[in-house]
Amino acid sequence: MKKLLAVGNWKMNPQTPKKANSLFEIVAGGVKKMKPKNTEVVVCPPFVYLSALSLRDSKILQLGAQDCFWDQSGAYTGEISPQMLKNLGCEYVIVGHSERRKRLNETDEMINAKTIAALDAGLKTILCIGEKEGERDEVARILKIQLQKNLKGIKTSVLARFTIAYEPVWAIGTGDPCRPKDAREARIYIERILTDLFGKQHAAKIRIIYGGSVTSKIARSYIDEGKMEGWLIGGASLHANEFLRIIGSIRD
Ligand code: PGA
Repeated sequence: MKKLLAVGNWKMNPQTPKKANSLFEIVAGGVKKMKPKNTEVVVCPPFVYLSALSLRDSKILQLGAQDCFWDQSGAYTGEISPQMLKNLGCEYVIVGHSERRKRLNETDEMINAKTIAALDAGLKTILCIGEKEGERDEVARILKIQLQKNLKGIKTSVLARFTIAYEPVWAIGTGDPCRPKDAREARIYIERILTDLFGKQHAAKIRIIYGGSVTSKIARSYIDEGKMEGWLIGGASLHANEFLRIIGSIRD
């Protein structure tokens, strides 16, 4: 069985290295005490903190980046390559987050190129997909389009390092999470599309997690009822104790 995955997406927070260190330390300390056997825990701080945090014990708490570029090196002012992240000791990277799709106009083609580059660099890659508010009646169709476009040309040999985060855009940062039974339905659609793309055996290697207003009160229902294999956690991951409660909501 695949391990569950708890990923904290800090977004553009906190504002100082001191606060970032302290959040990391408290979470790492809590995870160390909990010793979860069947849950991998990852935090994704802003790029500027990764270097300092990469010197900490990565067995307890793995590091991830919130984005990467689609090429490994070259004249791309301001960009960070997947290979740089890998060389720094990052295990994970998030691509295709809806905030980047919307506010930075990232297209499906750009996200496809980033996904390929991240997997090529050896990073465990989390691709975010999900319908917008006005698309709630056509979830299956939206997920199909996103997956077909974002996963074009992905080799089956890298799928064990690949995770899909189902994040309905309307549920992100709104305090209005998706119902676990609807997440379960989305999971079924995603599995079907992945099976069409890669075949059943390869599709089964891909982890599917839920994101969107996850709190400790509801986290477990996404695993039990939603049949998800973890969570992508934004707001709640900035509160160390709440993040730890989410991780601890599944006892080994
Ligand atoms: P949220 O964010 O938990 O604050 O809704 C989730 C995400 O953006 O990944």
